[in-house]
Amino acid sequence: MSHNHGHTDSNLKILKGLSVGEPNKQICVHWKTLTTSYYPQPPEGRSQIRMPNMSEDVYLWIKALHVIAVISWMAGMLYLPRLFVYHCDADIGSKQSETFKVMERRLLRAIINPAMGVTWLAGLYLAWSGHWFTFGWLHVKLALVLAMSAVHGFFSRCVKDFAADRRPRSQKFYRIINEVPTVLMIVIVIMVIVKPF
Ligand code: HEM
Repeated sequence: MSHNHGHTDSNLKILKGLSVGEPNKQICVHWKTLTTSYYPQPPEGRSQIRMPNMSEDVYLWIKALHVIAVISWMAGMLYLPRLFVYHCDADIGSKQSETFKVMERRLLRAIINPAMGVTWLAGLYLAWSGHWFTFGWLHVKLALVLAMSAVHGFFSRCVKDFAADRRPRSQKFYRIINEVPTVLMIVIVIMVIVKPF
């Protein structure tokens, strides 16, 4: 009978020679989470069985929360500058312009701001809990997320400008700035999923 659960195997690394405490036990590292769990040395070919582990489960729940917050933050960051592009076409004082003001304010306050907060809190927890702070991919990711947060701050100022009927920038400017969160998001996701370094 084969015990080769190939898929799960790729998720587990057995650190041989690092046996601690009782013989016949090994440290198993779930490599995506870097959490360790101890369990009896399985027979040859069965090393891939994943034992449920409390701290690993917490890590994965926080990661789910992180991804949910990331999706919400990005949805807003990709859509808000589009609203700015359309808003440029609406005359100051028009009903349309006032509607865009409401849409921009609500998107920023109800979605984008809280989503950024949750993304940061959950992300920093993951980095701390998973001991990721020494990894190059996280340094690049953090630099890009800081840039994303700066763009967020800038968008927030744009919402205030539009709300006060100040229009200091051209429609072309908003079309271009629209692409910045997209590019940042693509590189951030490659960093955290591929972990090239
Ligand atoms: C705000 C600061 C952020 C920090 C400190 C942070 C940190 C982290 C850490 C440590 C992980 C766990 C990696 C793993 O378990 O393999 C993670 C997962 C993830 N992050 Fe972030 N992150 C942040 C923001 C973002 C942003 C802005 C995005 C997307 C634009 C993003 C996308 C993701 C995704 C998709 C995952 C899941 C990866 C996986 O399951 O392998 N994160 N993040």
